Order: sequence, then C-alpha cells, then structure tokens
Amino acid sequence: MYGAYGHTAQFVVAALRRRDVALVLSGRDAGRLHALAAHHPGTRVRPAALDSPADLDRALDGVVAVVNCAGPFGDTPPALVDAALRAGAHYLDVAGETLVAWRMFDGPEPPAGVLVAPALGFFGALGDLLATAAYGSGPPAGAVTVAVALDGWVPTRGSRLAGKLRAGRRVVFTGGRLHLRSGDTPPPTATWTFPPPFGAQEAETEFPTADVVTIARHLPTQEIPTYLYTAPTATEDDTNAHRRSEQRFVVEVAIHRGGHEHRVSASGRDIYAFSAAMAAEATTRVLQGNVKATGLVTAGQAFAAADFLRTLPLDHLNLS
Ligand SMILES: NC(=O)c1ccc[n+]([C@@H]2O[C@H](COP(=O)([O-])OP(=O)(O)OC[C@H]3O[C@@H](n4cnc5c(N)ncnc54)[C@H](OP(=O)(O)O)[C@@H]3O)[C@@H](O)[C@H]2O)c1
Repeated sequence: MYGAYGHTAQFVVAALRRRDVALVLSGRDAGRLHALAAHHPGTRVRPAALDSPADLDRALDGVVAVVNCAGPFGDTPPALVDAALRAGAHYLDVAGETLVAWRMFDGPEPPAGVLVAPALGFFGALGDLLATAAYGSGPPAGAVTVAVALDGWVPTRGSRLAGKLRAGRRVVFTGGRLHLRSGDTPPPTATWTFPPPFGAQEAETEFPTADVVTIARHLPTQEIPTYLYTAPTATEDDTNAHRRSEQRFVVEVAIHRGGHEHRVSASGRDIYAFSAAMAAEATTRVLQGNVKATGLVTAGQAFAAADFLRTLPLDHLNLS
C-alpha cells in the first residue's frame, strides 16, 4: 500500500487485512506509517519517497502488487509504475483525475502477465463496470451516458488538491475521441432524471470523471456524455474522520443503441470508503489470478463486471 496513511488508503488497508492479505505499508512519512502499523499488527513498514528509486525498490522487494492511494495522482504514478515494473509487480491505483487517466492509458503496455490498472475508484471504475455489464453484444452503441448524483460532498485534502490542479479543465469524449476543454468557460448544465431519491435534477454536464477515459478505452461508442449533480452540502460532515461518512451516491449508466436506451444503476454510501472497497476487491482478485485480462487495463477489462459489482457494499444494484 503506497500512501497507506491517507484517508482512502486506510479503508483499503483495513479491508485487505480482513482478507488476510500480507501488507507492506509505504509512503513518505515514516512516523505516520509506524502509527498506522501499530493498529495493524503483522504489517511491515517500508517508507519510501517517490524521488528515490532505491527506497522504492527496497519498499517493493518481494511484493506481488502495488496499490497506490497517494494523490493527487498528477504526481505519483510514474515513479510507482516504474518501480512496480522493476519489481515484476502488478500496479493498481484509485486515480480519479481524467487527465491523469488519459495520460496513463496512453502509456506503454507492461510486460506479458503484468497488470497495470489505473482509476479503480468511484470515479473511473464504477461507471466503467456498470457500462461493461450493460453494454451487451451487437453493433457499437451510439452513446454511453454516465450520470452521478451525490447528496453532498466534502472532498478530502487529496481531492481538493487534485481539483486545484485540474483548474476547471474538462476532458470530454465526443465524435469518437477524447478532447480537452479549457477551464475558461463554466461547464454547461442540463436536466437528468436520476433513480430515486434524486429524481430530475439540473446537473453539470461535461463532468470530467475518469469513467470517460476508462469506458472509451474498450467500449465502442461515439459519445460519452456525463452528468454530475451534487446537492449543496449543509454542514461539514465527517469525511476526514477515518470512518464511513453518511454521503449517499447514485450512478446511472445509459447505453443508447439503435433508438433504444438501456439504463443500469448502483447506489451506496461514501464515495471514499466505496472506492476503497473496489480497490480491495480488485487487489484480491489480482492476487488470486481472478482476472479476465492483464496489461494496461480498466476495471471493466480486467474483471467480470457483473460478478465484481455484486460483491461490492452497495445499497442497490440494478443491472436488469
Ligand atoms: N477515483 C476516485 O473516485 C477516488 C476515490 C477516493 C480518492 N481518490 C483520490 O485519491 C487520492 C487520495 O485521496 P484521499 O482521500 O486518501 O486523500 P488524503 O487523505 O489527502 O491522502 C492523500 C495521501 O497521498 C499522499 N501523497 C500525496 N502526494 C504524495 C507524494 N508526492 N508522495 C508521497 N505521498 C503523497 C499523502 O501523504 P502526505 O500526507 O505525506 O502528503 C496521503 O497519504 C486523491 O487524489 C483523491 O482524489 C479518488
């Protein structure tokens, strides 16, 4: 686990410990790593700064897979992917930044049998898994829409820094390819009718969720419209309290093909804890060799999508 003492990472650590996975805790602050290890007897601590390949090689000695939860991810994946490949280890992360995911999926393929799976968090994997489960066979879909509703959102420090780096820029998929829109104009809005309890809401369109990149990588389509509705957050919630927050989410994916629309959806609680559950499930499957594909892959490419979704802590899953 790299960035092991971060908010999301701590959920992953706890989940992997419950599954008896042998863990090495790594990151740049030795004191915080040891403090975390005190709560998880049997875990090993190997501090490593990203600008020290020697430290990283020591940290990754003998590991089977690296899970990177250190973000913003504009900074952290290159050194960790390189170190993972030097160690012959698989690499997984929870990057949600569209620009980072775009750059990573444009990168070189890892050696045969090695898996590099970026963007396994809420933004990047849930929409991709839903779309993969719903896509079906037949001619290419005209469009794959991803709509996200949140009843509030108090971003963690990592998310706030990632938002600052994005500076309003938006990656959109239209006309069969990815485009970068500058942050000079505010994102357009439009109405999307979400499943209950959200219903019809005026949502931000062109929301740059990493699902745009992950879906575009393997599901043929011309358009990937996105919608994000976030209800105003009334009070500071407990997002940083190292326990699940009360935040509720719904993600709906619509496959548009030949005049028909097929909608599937999932709802649950706390996008950070939920991201960690997905990363832990992905890691477990990688360690067990329970993957459909290796190489540079999205969640939808790597895992049996419907089966993976059914293991997750969701309140509601509609794949019908
Ligand atoms: N895809 C998704 O839906 C999704 C879901 C959850 C989280 N995320 C992303 O995951 C990242 C972490 O989120 P979080 O909620 O866990 O935030 P967090 O609590 O702020 O944790 C960030 C962690 O990253 C470490 N880190 C940051 N830059 C680093 C660097 N250059 N070298 C070494 N360590 C570094 C931090 O260590 P220090 O304290 O030492 O800086 C800390 O351990 C964020 O970018 C967030 O946006 C994405």
